[in-house]
Amino acid sequence: MTPPGNLAPIAAARAVLARAHRVAVLTGAGMSAESGVPTFRDAQTGLWARFDPHTLASAEGFAADPALVWRWYAWRRERVAQAQPHAGHRALAAAQESGRFGDLTLITQNVDGLHAAAGSRGVLELHGNLMSSHCSAGCGVAIARPADLPAGEPPGCPRCGGHLRPSVVWFGEALEPATLQRAQAAAVRSDAMLVIGTSGLVQPAAALPGAAQRAGSALIVVNPQPSELDHLAAVVIRAGAAAALPLLLEDSDS
Ligand code: APR
Repeated sequence: MTPPGNLAPIAAARAVLARAHRVAVLTGAGMSAESGVPTFRDAQTGLWARFDPHTLASAEGFAADPALVWRWYAWRRERVAQAQPHAGHRALAAAQESGRFGDLTLITQNVDGLHAAAGSRGVLELHGNLMSSHCSAGCGVAIARPADLPAGEPPGCPRCGGHLRPSVVWFGEALEPATLQRAQAAAVRSDAMLVIGTSGLVQPAAALPGAAQRAGSALIVVNPQPSELDHLAAVVIRAGAAAALPLLLEDSDS
């Protein structure tokens, strides 16, 4: 369980948000850690400490062994299906619903769907969604929920017979252009940006906070560990998302 950490900077971060009229939020795997979904780079527990990303999260890896990659994503889907949004996810959804921060745009690198499950709307899923699949041969078939798909072998595309693949962005693949453009626009027009649970190592998502900051947005980082983005922040909250976000976002007038 993530320790509560140092919540002292919450007051300074709340003062930044009090002045904000357009808030952007970028989340990474750390946002879901307290829901039991493993991150990628945390020592020992991170997925990349236990699995080879280029074997399991690349088109080359899928081409080499479609069944292995499909089974790994089926395992991840099972983990995610057991996960529930935590108080931090709910605090972000409530903040968006309240309208207190003007329009709040939620951008996530996560593929677990937990923000939408908590009630956040219009979530920009930069790296896709674990629950969706599409034809790897590019015939255009897309399946929103593979709940009834077999776990052991990648199913054949109902139209062309090619393998179905998870609709997530793999290493070396381009992000969906319209989604990335909307995320970039939200970042640069924001006057405050929350950067939660990301190591800031993977582009182009990791460039969004810098673009926001250069356009005048005040960054608030929430992360129990140092990250590549801390130097851009007006405030760094060295704590976990589940503890920090409810305190950061609660409506003190309520
Ligand atoms: N609350 C907030 N942050 C946390 C928590 C927590 N409870 N627990 C861990 N973290 C932080 C870690 O300190 C780390 O900085 O979350 C971050 C997770 O970093 P990564 O595992 O690198 O995940 P992420 O930044 O989302 O990776 C980006 O890399 O492999 C690709 O596609 C994958 O979307 C992923 C991308």
